[in-house]
Amino acid sequence: MNFSPIPTELIAHLRAARRVAVLTGAGISAESGVPTFREAQTGLWARYDPEELATPDAFRRNPKLVWEWYAWRQERVRQAEPNPGHLALVEMERRIAEFTLITQNVDGLHRRAGSHQVLELHGNLFRAKCLDEDRPVESWPDSAEIPPRCPRCGALLRPDVVWFGEMLPAGALRAAEQAAATAEVFLSIGTSTLVYPAAELPFTALRAGATVVEVNPQPTPLSPHVTFSLNGPAGAILPALVEQVWNGSAGAEGAGR
Ligand code: OAD
Repeated sequence: MNFSPIPTELIAHLRAARRVAVLTGAGISAESGVPTFREAQTGLWARYDPEELATPDAFRRNPKLVWEWYAWRQERVRQAEPNPGHLALVEMERRIAEFTLITQNVDGLHRRAGSHQVLELHGNLFRAKCLDEDRPVESWPDSAEIPPRCPRCGALLRPDVVWFGEMLPAGALRAAEQAAATAEVFLSIGTSTLVYPAAELPFTALRAGATVVEVNPQPTPLSPHVTFSLNGPAGAILPALVEQVWNGSAGAEGAGR
């Protein structure tokens, strides 16, 4: 796999860093075969616009359709495995004193890979919550009804994900902002940096003086501002970065070749 060498200066910064924050988006799961949000529409679902399914209005209009769309996405994620990019971040968590992993992904692959501390800003595909009480529901009695109903109050259950127009979970967002504001190194990985407030986090880190690194094969609105751009797939770049920072090959020579 070819990508630019990892700058020696970045290797030194990461090796010395005590506080590191990472923001991931759909790109980190691309190499696991999980389609990004906007690519997810194939087969039966090709005629639906995801932005029209992932909204409170869509659920009110047709809860069965929306629930089934999420069930289909769950199935695709169940068939996927974490990739070397996810695993490299597990390794980074082990090496850094204060490490915060912030994700916009709802696929749960960071935890499946073995990351312990994960702030899920957009929720999780595999959880449900009560539409009326807005509280998580772990399990519900088997029934033919779709969506199933809350075992406590009988209201409909909905996926525990953040839909367009909804607020992010306040505690997770606060923790993410705090991590961005105090990180010495901030990595923005596989995200188009278009969807706010998550897209604000690398800018918060920049304003606070952090070294900000972007890992993405394509430029994004963040690219002109970062300290280092690593252009290529996360599944190749992140393992090379971890290897060079912590397993001794000190220079940039040979990176990724
Ligand atoms: P996007 O689908 O907008 O962007 C994915 C990014 O990953 C792009 O910039 C790609 O260039 C990059 N990419 C693709 N393959 C990659 C690879 N192998 N390694 C690294 N990067 C790669 O996904 P997000 O930025 O995550 O929100 O989208 C943010 C939010 O928009 C999602 O969480 C979702 C969506 O609307 C909600 O559902 C609330």
